[in-house]
Amino acid sequence: MEIVFATNNLHKLEEISALLGKKYQLLGLKDLHIEEEIPEDHNTLEENASQKAWYIFNLTGRNCFADDTGLEVDTLKGAPGVYSARYSRIGYPTFPEMEPAEGNIRKLLLEMEDARERSARFRTVISLVLSGMEYQFEGVIEGVITQRPSGAKGFGYDPIFTPAGYKITFAEMDLSLKNQISHRARAVKLLVDFLNGM
Ligand code: IMP
Repeated sequence: MEIVFATNNLHKLEEISALLGKKYQLLGLKDLHIEEEIPEDHNTLEENASQKAWYIFNLTGRNCFADDTGLEVDTLKGAPGVYSARYSRIGYPTFPEMEPAEGNIRKLLLEMEDARERSARFRTVISLVLSGMEYQFEGVIEGVITQRPSGAKGFGYDPIFTPAGYKITFAEMDLSLKNQISHRARAVKLLVDFLNGM
C-alpha cells in the first residue's frame, strides 16, 4: 500500500521507510510533485500535524501522515513549543542576522538566564489520515536545558538539551543513540506499530 509522508525532508523519509514493513511504500511530497507550501498556521502541534495531513489527503486522496515537533520549556510556560523553528524570528528579542538554529539557542538561553528550574521536553505529534479517519501518535522525551551549548552533532536545539538519565546533550550523543530514544523515534514507533499491525 502506498502512503504519503507530508514532508520534503529526505532524511525523515528514509528513517521511516526503513522501519515500515514491505507492505507499505512511502512517498514524499517530491514524489508527488507537490511543491506548494503546506499550511500549518495553528497554535498547537496537534492541530498543525492534523492540518498538514488532511491538506494532503484532501489534495491527493491518498492515505498520508504529517508530523510536528516542538521544544516545551516549563519555566517559559511551554515556549517555544509550536514556534520552535522560528523562535528567534518572532516576538522579542529577534536575531534576524543569525542562522535560525543559532538564534533560537541564543534567545532561549537569554530567556532562561536566571532560571534555576530548567526542565523541558521535546514532543512530536504525528497525524495519520487513513481512508478518511484520523489517528494521532505522540512521542516525548523529557530533559533539561543546559546553561550553555555543548556538542556539534544533530541539529536545532540539540546542543542545549540533555535528555533525562544522560549527562550529555543530544549534540554530544551518537546519532544512532539519539535516534533510538528521541521524541520523533517514539512517535514513529507508535505509527509504525499501528501500520504494521493492520
Ligand atoms: P519539525 O516539526 O520537525 O520541523 O521541528 C520544528 C523545530 O523543532 C525544528 O526546526 C527544530 O528547531 C526543533 N526540533 C525538532 N526536532 C528536533 C531535534 O531532534 N533536536 C533539536 N531540535 C529539534
